[in-house]
Amino acid sequence: MEKVTKIIELRHKVGLWRAQGLSIAFVPTMGNLHAGHIKLVTEAKKKADKVIVSLFINPSQFGAGEDFEGYPRTEQADQEKLEQASANLLFAPTVMEIYPNKAEATTVSVGELATLHCGAHRPGHFDGVSTVVSKLFNIVQPDIALFGAKDFQQLAVIRKMIQDLNIPVTIFSVATERESDGLAMSSRNSYLTEQQRAIAPELYQSLCRAKDLVKQGQLNFHTIEKAQKNQLQESGFQVDYFSICKASDLRAATKNDNDLVILVAARLGKPRLIDNICFSKKSQLIS
Ligand code: PAF
Repeated sequence: MEKVTKIIELRHKVGLWRAQGLSIAFVPTMGNLHAGHIKLVTEAKKKADKVIVSLFINPSQFGAGEDFEGYPRTEQADQEKLEQASANLLFAPTVMEIYPNKAEATTVSVGELATLHCGAHRPGHFDGVSTVVSKLFNIVQPDIALFGAKDFQQLAVIRKMIQDLNIPVTIFSVATERESDGLAMSSRNSYLTEQQRAIAPELYQSLCRAKDLVKQGQLNFHTIEKAQKNQLQESGFQVDYFSICKASDLRAATKNDNDLVILVAARLGKPRLIDNICFSKKSQLIS
């Protein structure tokens, strides 16, 4: 696997592949790769001739006082994992390469969708994500891009951006990879102490309980949300939100909606964990 750090080098490489008529899949990451990222690469390999992975810890999606400085930087280990997964190219630019003007005037902002849930608790976060993803798409110009379903709202924001800006990239969502106890894999799990790690799977358990209640016909969503929130809080989580939503637009679900997603974000000491469960009220789990 080749590694490049400059946009010009990446474009040269992509140009050579394009001249041979090869298709390109793109997996954007912030590094500290785990099995969930590797699954994105494996899926990407099935769908395109060449797979490009970016490793860029994007400062513009971290708010003041968030963990940008302390975000785990594990480039050597990441590179080895990507070699093993047979990715074709690693793009690992510096902050100066992506944001040479320090204060760029242009920001991509996706509107209401980016202000709900995580957007309400991390103001500006999704503007940072949509801006960097649109920059990366313009740099790489892939045919397809793959994102993990754990970041359900991020995926919805990116899909909306693609649609609204007519960006010719097909987006694929890849199911969340979980530890054997159900905890969703995340780069931030490495912040958990042993004690917090033992409690962390309760987040997914709360989603499963809420899903079961809805599927059993309990339609007072507010009561379900409140009960799960309380239970998480009793276990030591500080819950930002626990919301039963319409999968299509992430607005609060009503009893007539069928395709639902339950979104949760909660702090357990330092780390803030997010997870979701997506299902159809009438049938089996849809993802
Ligand atoms: O999900 C992530 O790791 C990041 O938000 C992304 C999509 C790479 C943008 O920086």
